[in-house]
Amino acid sequence: MRQNQFKAVILAAGKGTRLKSDLPKVLHPLFGKPLLVRVLDTLGLLSAEEACVIVGHGRDQVSETLDAYEAGYAVGTVVQEPQLGTGHALLQVRQKRADWQTFDGDVLILSGDVPLLEASTLQTMLQAHQAEKNDLTVLVATMDNPFGYGRVLIEGQSVVRVVEQKDATDTEKQVKTVNTGIYCLNWAKVSPLLEQLSSNNAQGEFYLTDVIALAVQAGYRVGLSHLDDPDEVLGVNARADLAQCHDVLNQRTLNRLMADGVTILHPASTFIGPEVKIGADSTVLPGCYLQGDISIGKRCTIGPHTTMSGSVEIADDVKVMQSAVRDSRIGAFSNIGPFAQLRDGVDISHHVNIGNFVEVKKTRIDHHTNAAHLTYLGDAELGADVNIGAGTITANYDPVRDIKERTVIADGAKIGSNSVLIAPVTVGENASVAAGSVITKNVKPWDLAIARGRQVDITGWVKRAKASTVEVKP
Ligand code: UD1
Ligand code: CA
Repeated sequence: MRQNQFKAVILAAGKGTRLKSDLPKVLHPLFGKPLLVRVLDTLGLLSAEEACVIVGHGRDQVSETLDAYEAGYAVGTVVQEPQLGTGHALLQVRQKRADWQTFDGDVLILSGDVPLLEASTLQTMLQAHQAEKNDLTVLVATMDNPFGYGRVLIEGQSVVRVVEQKDATDTEKQVKTVNTGIYCLNWAKVSPLLEQLSSNNAQGEFYLTDVIALAVQAGYRVGLSHLDDPDEVLGVNARADLAQCHDVLNQRTLNRLMADGVTILHPASTFIGPEVKIGADSTVLPGCYLQGDISIGKRCTIGPHTTMSGSVEIADDVKVMQSAVRDSRIGAFSNIGPFAQLRDGVDISHHVNIGNFVEVKKTRIDHHTNAAHLTYLGDAELGADVNIGAGTITANYDPVRDIKERTVIADGAKIGSNSVLIAPVTVGENASVAAGSVITKNVKPWDLAIARGRQVDITGWVKRAKASTVEVKP
């Protein structure tokens, strides 16, 4: 169902004192994405005309994040300086956005530090707000432990006001109906009330929550929208809240994946970000941390003890064991690990084996190629059916010019153990490099390159050395 036109405001100017951090609170990451970005993502699932983010503390950093964010809708900012409270934050929009003064639709108010909210909850709230013809709707939740949240005081069927934790009496503190800090309001009617707020309270701030009592006094229709799952509105005020949100978001994702046919053997030790997609009949073993724009195919086995981050694409029937994968692609039926690292634009085709203690960086590898042991492949291009012997190194770094050079190993080439390939260099098709070689020149197709000291055998030397009382030189 389409909503009437609405705009959104996201409060994100606060310092987040309780986090004791140099990073502005709303930029703290949750599964790799700043809290504020998670809120913007959720909003993107609705049809907001525009979002206005209130920035203040650390606003250069926050604005940088917003500039890099690709929203499907207009996202603007308004500066709040100094930060005198949530009510003062919203007042800035009224005072600084002349174009909003003529807006007569609804405005959704969100907090940049409430990252787990689901779009469906906002949708339900907007629908209730419009169906009940409310002037102001407050999203509320019932919490067993409401400590820290504003309590919603209700008389009869009607909301009277919201009292903050620090201003509440002992009786008010017993109230378990909490203000989630999320509202929907008729901008033309309710925003003028912001001018009447006072800072006469325990924190000396202009509370947005006081607008509720002002709206009731003005005779406006104030309604409540009840949220079933209070976890959705967990706010991040301290590090412990961040950990709690991480747990909730993780469990949500694991439940979704298991429902879709993925085996998660030990959920308590498995951490998967909400962006991760995994095909049916795949298994994630204990100790994995997967976060980012990750897509894993069917019948894969991931873990134990595997991390993935950035943008990762894994085809069907792949095994990744005890390894780290970042910004890479892995083709079908490939085996990675144990103890491998793939990073920064690795592109591996099907039926490839990358074994223990192999690091692969910015390298393309074609099908049926093996690098099974103790190897570094950086800035390289490997063809199909290549074998990389144990201990092979692509020496890709030129320290004089401070640049990385490329190594090309064509189809069918075999690189002997403990070889160093000094880039830029090409090993031709079906060529062989003898073990222990240091290759500085291109090797032609079908050639054997040997670049090491020749072996010399000295007959009977050991016997002579043992028999002698003085040192015997070879
Ligand atoms: C607020 C509510 C509380 C509610 C809770 C839900 C008020 C007064 N209290 O409390 O009733 O239960 O949220 O999570 O609104 N911010 C600004 N400018 C400021 C101050 C804050 O933009 O001057 C932003 C913060 O960055 C944050 C949001 O507003 O994103 C909420 O501020 P915060 O200080 O965390 O309010 P709470 O104490 O959590
Ligand atoms: Ca908060």
